[in-house]
Amino acid sequence: MRTDSRREGPIITLDGPAGSGKSSTAKAVAKRLGFRHLDSGALYRAITLGLLRSSVEEADWGNLSEQGFTNLDINLETFENRFQVLLRGQAVDSELRTPEVTDRVSFVASLPASRQSILGLQRKAGEDGRLVTDGRDMGTAVFPHAELKIYLIADLEERAMRRLREVGEDSPDDFALAQQARALDTRDQSDSQRTISPLKKAEDAIELDTTGLAFEEQVQAIVDLAHQLTLL
Ligand code: DC
Repeated sequence: MRTDSRREGPIITLDGPAGSGKSSTAKAVAKRLGFRHLDSGALYRAITLGLLRSSVEEADWGNLSEQGFTNLDINLETFENRFQVLLRGQAVDSELRTPEVTDRVSFVASLPASRQSILGLQRKAGEDGRLVTDGRDMGTAVFPHAELKIYLIADLEERAMRRLREVGEDSPDDFALAQQARALDTRDQSDSQRTISPLKKAEDAIELDTTGLAFEEQVQAIVDLAHQLTLL
C-alpha cells in the first residue's frame, strides 16, 4: 500500500465505542512503531472543560458558533512522540477525565460547530504522517485516506470492567458494573446517533474484537496488521 506522498509515513486510525481500549492501545502501538499518538477524545474533553471554565451558560453551549469554540483556545503542543493538549496555553490532563467533563462531552461533541473548530488542528497533527490516532470519526471524517483503519469493539460488560479497573476498582460489585455499563451505553448511543460524524465503522476499516484479548495481544494484532500491509 502506498503512503500519501506528502507525508513521511502512514496514518493509522483506531475508532470504536467508549471503553474499547482505543487510547491506551493507540498509545502503545505508536510507541512500538516510533510514531506519534493523538487522542482526539481529549480535544473534545478540552473543549468541554473550556466551556465549564467560561462564562457561557451551559444552556447556551448549543448556540455557540465555530468562532465561539475557537475562542476557547484549544491547541496541541508537539513533543517527540506525542501531542499535549493545551487549554489557554496550559497543559490539561487529569482535569479532562472528571465526571463533570465526562457527563457533558458527548453533547459537546455532537455540535457541528465544536467539531469544525478542531478539524484543522487534528489534520495538522497528521500532516507529516507517522501518526496513530484514536477517536470516533478518525477513519471516516478526519483522515478518510488513512493507510490503516481499525475499528475496535468489545462486549459492553468487558468495556465497563476495563473502565472501572482504570480508576482502581478491580473487583466491582454487580451494581457498580451495571451502572458503568449503562453510562457507556448511553454515551455510545449519543455518539452513534448524532447526525455529524457519528461513531461508525469506516467501510475500509478492519474490525478487531478485543473481548478476551489481553492488552498486549491487541497491541500486537495492530502492529502485525501494519506490517502485513507493508506500511512500515
Ligand atoms: O474517547 P473519549 O471517551 O475520551 O471521548 C470523549 C467524547 O468525545 C465521546 O463522547 C465521543 C467524543 N469523540 C468524538 O465525538 N469524536 C472523536 N473523534 C473522539 C471523541
